Amino acid sequence: MNDGKDIPTEKSYRTLIVIKPDAVRRSLIGSILRRFEDEGFSIKELLMLTLSKEEAEAFYTVHRGKPFFSELVQFITSGPVVAAILEYRDRGDTDAIAKVRSIIGATDPSKAEEGTIRRLYGSSITENAIHASDSIESLEREARVIFGNRCGKRVDG
Ligand code: CMP
Repeated sequence: MNDGKDIPTEKSYRTLIVIKPDAVRRSLIGSILRRFEDEGFSIKELLMLTLSKEEAEAFYTVHRGKPFFSELVQFITSGPVVAAILEYRDRGDTDAIAKVRSIIGATDPSKAEEGTIRRLYGSSITENAIHASDSIESLEREARVIFGNRCGKRVDG
């Protein structure tokens, strides 16, 4: 059963990423997943899907009412995305959410640090290649939206 409930609430050694339609269109799925594996993460769930408008609005619900919300929903539903649950292999004290966010870089690719995924592959603040959960609450909500009712399509056996 994969309804998001197995994601830990007290300690985030897991997080979620979504490779956005711009990066999928540019054949960057492999390079991006490779980067996370090289940085010490294992892929625990992996799914390619095209979000419906309703799913996109639920995924990005914290941005409802912001000026960029409709453009954001339009873009994220414009083609397939690849979502993955990543787990940091060496659990220790490392916070997977923070580590992944440092690897992806700032929201605006032009402001992201050299070598980060958004700096390397993003082309604008909307087409910024990748999303990653920013908190445990977001992780739980986002994982429910993406993986909640698609148990049959899990690829991790
Ligand atoms: P993401 O990490 O997926 O979370 C919300 C997204 O909104 C963000 O990446 C950007 O792609 C998009 N966005 C578009 N305009 C803005 C903006 N002005 N500020 C923040 N996010 C924006």
